[in-house]
Amino acid sequence: MKSLPISSVPPSGMPDTFGRVATDLRVSVTDRCNLRCTYCMPAEGLPWMSKPEMLTDEEMLRIISVFIGLGVRQVRLTGGEPLLRRSLVDLVAGIAALKPRPRIAMTTNGVGLDRLAAPLARAGLDRVNVSLDTIDQQEFFKLTRRDRLADVEVGLKAAASVGLTPVKVNAVAMRGINDHSAADVLQWCLDRDYRLRFIEQMPLDAQHEWQRDQMVTSDEIREQLSTRFALTPLPDETRGSAPAQLFLVNGGPSTVGIIASVSAPFCAACDRVRLTSDGQVRNCLFAKGEVDLRGPLREGATTAELAGLIQGEMWHKARGHGIDQPGFIQPDRPMSSIGG
Ligand code: 5AD
Ligand code: SF4
Repeated sequence: MKSLPISSVPPSGMPDTFGRVATDLRVSVTDRCNLRCTYCMPAEGLPWMSKPEMLTDEEMLRIISVFIGLGVRQVRLTGGEPLLRRSLVDLVAGIAALKPRPRIAMTTNGVGLDRLAAPLARAGLDRVNVSLDTIDQQEFFKLTRRDRLADVEVGLKAAASVGLTPVKVNAVAMRGINDHSAADVLQWCLDRDYRLRFIEQMPLDAQHEWQRDQMVTSDEIREQLSTRFALTPLPDETRGSAPAQLFLVNGGPSTVGIIASVSAPFCAACDRVRLTSDGQVRNCLFAKGEVDLRGPLREGATTAELAGLIQGEMWHKARGHGIDQPGFIQPDRPMSSIGG
């Protein structure tokens, strides 16, 4: 009998054929959002998932515990906007009770965080990343189509005051809207001890309007910031699987990060795996396929069966996202239902 090539049998954990091992799980807890960022959604929003389609807390916890058994050490809650899931605090408490307890982080737009930061921290949330692209009210409105800048500001303040630190801020620069005010956002974050990172816009908008030549590149961001600050790149060895290239600002100790997701992809060091709120596992933001866990789970699958499905999906993770290659196809699922 012809034996299988050794490489077709995943060992324990979640390795892939390129030697990467996933340890960072991103869970989209809802696809809904209260903002309408132009790089994410159309003005009218999207057809949201129905309640029966979504995993219950119990189902989510069961799947997360399978992932922990497979080596996950950090769980990041995302959306849509994760704060819109009513049971979020209980969900965090449930994750914090799993063994071994993972680090728990959340990526949020910050609206409503003023009220929820304290209960979330008490439930076990360790850190937050808040998306904030501009500190100019009009630019904020243009980008998010909602007048909620003040809510985000108080949300950030609350996060810092309850110790969800270091508070990180994620910014996407959009040409002709906020690309010229990047240095203002940095100064604002430095003044408040928030760690700012700029992210290149990726082709994940539901409208499929992203254009490579319109994207503000990491080099442009760096030039823009350099008009007001001296940036010194930190050596790459300090980076690990972190996607941001870090720069000391005016000699340090403060830093700013630039995530060149498109122009200098970090796929080779990727340690991420994703779970959608309807129970699909994706091995990459840009994966062409996903594996369903919700069906098997509801039909009584064992932990070993669920783990096997996850491992099979991870094993086939592609080498990279290939955005700059001819023939690249944007995933059908938009960012808001995959999670950042
Ligand atoms: N490209 C880059 N970043 C994006 N985000 C949402 N859509 C995109 C995109 N198309 C960011 C949000 C948030 C995180 C979840 O990802 O601003 O910070
Ligand atoms: Fe909402 Fe985030 Fe999409 Fe903006 S990027 S619309 S905050 S899910």
